[in-house]
Amino acid sequence: MNTPASAPSAAGQLAFEEWMLGVQSQVEAALARSLPPAEAIPARLHQAMRYASLNGGKRVRPLLVFAAGELGAAPPERLQVAASAVELIHSYSLVHDDLPAMDDDTLRRGRPTCHVEFDEATALLVGDSLQSLAFELLAGQDFADRGRQVEMLRLLARASGSCGMAGGQAIDLEAVGKSLNQPELELMHALKTGALIRAAVLLGALCGNALSDADSAALDRFAKRAGLLFQVVDDILDCTASTATLGKTAGKDAAAEKPTYVSLMGLERARDFAGDLRRQAREALSPFGERSRRLLELTDFITQRKF
Ligand code: IPE
Ligand code: IPE
Ligand code: MG
Ligand code: MG
Ligand code: MG
Repeated sequence: MNTPASAPSAAGQLAFEEWMLGVQSQVEAALARSLPPAEAIPARLHQAMRYASLNGGKRVRPLLVFAAGELGAAPPERLQVAASAVELIHSYSLVHDDLPAMDDDTLRRGRPTCHVEFDEATALLVGDSLQSLAFELLAGQDFADRGRQVEMLRLLARASGSCGMAGGQAIDLEAVGKSLNQPELELMHALKTGALIRAAVLLGALCGNALSDADSAALDRFAKRAGLLFQVVDDILDCTASTATLGKTAGKDAAAEKPTYVSLMGLERARDFAGDLRRQAREALSPFGERSRRLLELTDFITQRKF
């Protein structure tokens, strides 16, 4: 495309939007290839798995994998596998998050939720199967360094389970109708959403040349701030954006009496807090210089996104 937006910068790099579209379409194609064909038996389950993970979503976690991969010149074929794995876990988490026993939502990514389009039992199995597929992909990639690969599998497993996303979801359900203080809310957000965002960043870095201990610590600081930022912005959007823009039902958090950063501190202070987190995340990237350009751009995208 010859639009000014797609013109490479002076350093020969694509503009952010063009880079983002490139990663999104690469990940879409990789997921479409990795998921079982819709007609393979059991066809209804495979159709539902494809429904829940293709043609939708901002693909923020894959974008973070690719952006972090730039810190250590990671090969794209490894990044694609890591990105697909983390996106499959994320898609599974959304299918279960929307179930009647959890948030009871009927709209996701602008379409009926998986259990509405198919049925609840199928949606449960979709989650189970997307999760298994994520680990199958990550284990199947031919990494030169097997030790590193095991570290990546362990990282993704831990981020998904009771000490990560699933644990955060448990806290979220227990917190309905209660008010949490800020450290409690931060823990819930760090687990239910932050853990997978952090895993995406660290997985991207692990696909490339090893970082020094100091650089790894800086990247982890970034990943934790970015993870919390992501959910604080999700809380803000839930009560400021429309259902049409979000592609999911707006105003659900207040209606379901969920503690959020907006219920804790009000909209203005929640926005200020998001601004603080953005600054802290960007500062953590300072040791990386130009190599962190995409991570910096993504931090701004996560802060300024409209859905
Ligand atoms: C929504 O995540 C759920 C949260 C963890 C806050 P996203 O906003 O990344 O959802 P998609 O993937 O773009 O639909
Ligand atoms: C979702 O948090 C977190 C996970 C799916 C793990 P929310 O419940 O706020 O996400 P949305 O708003 O439904 O996307
Ligand atoms: Mg939820
Ligand atoms: Mg929800
Ligand atoms: Mg939400």
